[in-house]
Amino acid sequence: MHCHARFYCSLALVASSLFSLAAQASSLSTRATVCNGHAELCERSYGSVSFVGAHDSYAVGATSNVFVNQDHDVTQQLNDGVRMLQLQVHNQGGALRLCHSICAIADSGLLQDYLSKVKSWMDSNPNEVVSILIVNIDNSPAPSFDLAYKAADLDGISFAPETPTLPASGWPTLGSMIDSGKRLVSFLDNGADPSIPHLIDEFTNIWETAFNLVNPDLFDCTVNRTKGDTSTQMFLINHFLNKLVAGLPAPDPDNANVTNAATGAGSLGAHVDTCRTVQGRPPTFLLVDFYEFGGGSVFQVAADINGVTYAPTTPIAQPVTANSSTSSSPSSGSGSGNGATAMSASNSMAMAFSVLSAVTMGVVSVL
Ligand SMILES: *[C@@H]1O[C@H](CO)[C@@H](O)[C@H](O)[C@H]1NC(C)=O
Ligand SMILES: *[C@@H]1O[C@H](CO)[C@@H](O)[C@H](O)[C@H]1NC(C)=O
Ligand SMILES: *[C@@H]1O[C@H](CO)[C@@H](O)[C@H](O)[C@H]1NC(C)=O
Repeated sequence: MHCHARFYCSLALVASSLFSLAAQASSLSTRATVCNGHAELCERSYGSVSFVGAHDSYAVGATSNVFVNQDHDVTQQLNDGVRMLQLQVHNQGGALRLCHSICAIADSGLLQDYLSKVKSWMDSNPNEVVSILIVNIDNSPAPSFDLAYKAADLDGISFAPETPTLPASGWPTLGSMIDSGKRLVSFLDNGADPSIPHLIDEFTNIWETAFNLVNPDLFDCTVNRTKGDTSTQMFLINHFLNKLVAGLPAPDPDNANVTNAATGAGSLGAHVDTCRTVQGRPPTFLLVDFYEFGGGSVFQVAADINGVTYAPTTPIAQPVTANSSTSSSPSSGSGSGNGATAMSASNSMAMAFSVLSAVTMGVVSVL
């Protein structure tokens, strides 16, 4: 530093050290101190945190509809604490659409529009890591998904691992993901392509338990699907219960309070305990239907696994059940109309018939 007078020189020195302090402070302030709602989670690897997932996150509507898995839309799901969004993506003449099994009767719109909602939520919630699990039911090419991500401006915040497969312990911490701005983790159940590393192959990284169970006694922790080393992979439990409608599995809101509970036979909490016993570790992802049934019990279960306190600042959404019990027989537990109570019998039969045809044609593999 070239100084003309001692006084100015000290001033300059002070200014320069102030500047460097400020620079340090600003680099410190970019370090996340709260991650997914908890300071304790910042230093934890993504692969060692447990997240609640919404099964068929986009399939939202009145619970009387057999194609509905959630009561509340993705924005509300995220507000309430859901951190994995599971989607079934169909290719309709080149357009990627969110349909439940059959686009002709259960179409929830373009993937890109859904992703835009995720983007705006993530913009308003910069200290959150969110995951998306895509069931690529029509084997659409990974670049087509990438186009939808780009259109929704999600590619820039998408995390791309350095190698296509990471063991659970190999994932970065939530804090570093948030600091780097790469805090959306997306998996494709098939069709992942190394040229698009932020669309990560699911089954080499995650194993799953059985799905579409209709008997809660069968919620277990044995490996159902994987393409990797299950001793080191992250794992997902499919903890949603179906009922049979015209002989076909459909979501079962009537039992959701029990299924989503923190304790008791058939509950999410009991399923997690089974996993601790069988696998020696808790699941990474807890995939549920009608997440708000149980009044937050699913988030309580995840918080207990993570060793944090579940204390939502605002009450979570209420179940949307008002009309399904009033429009039909008050006791929906047994007898006819099992399930689709608010739908007319003919509607319900027509829908069941469509599903049946689709199953017969091999269209439906995941409900
Ligand atoms: C996986 O679970 C399904 C039921 O969801 C069952 O039909 C199938 O046999 C299971 N496969 C394996 C390999 O366990
Ligand atoms: C689930 O529990 C909530 C809150 O206790 C209650 O309002 C609702 O009626 C229950 N739903 C069913 C289907 O039992
Ligand atoms: C229930 O029915 C009433 C009257 O038809 C309607 O205004 C309300 O939106 C319905 N609620 C739900 C959750 O479908």
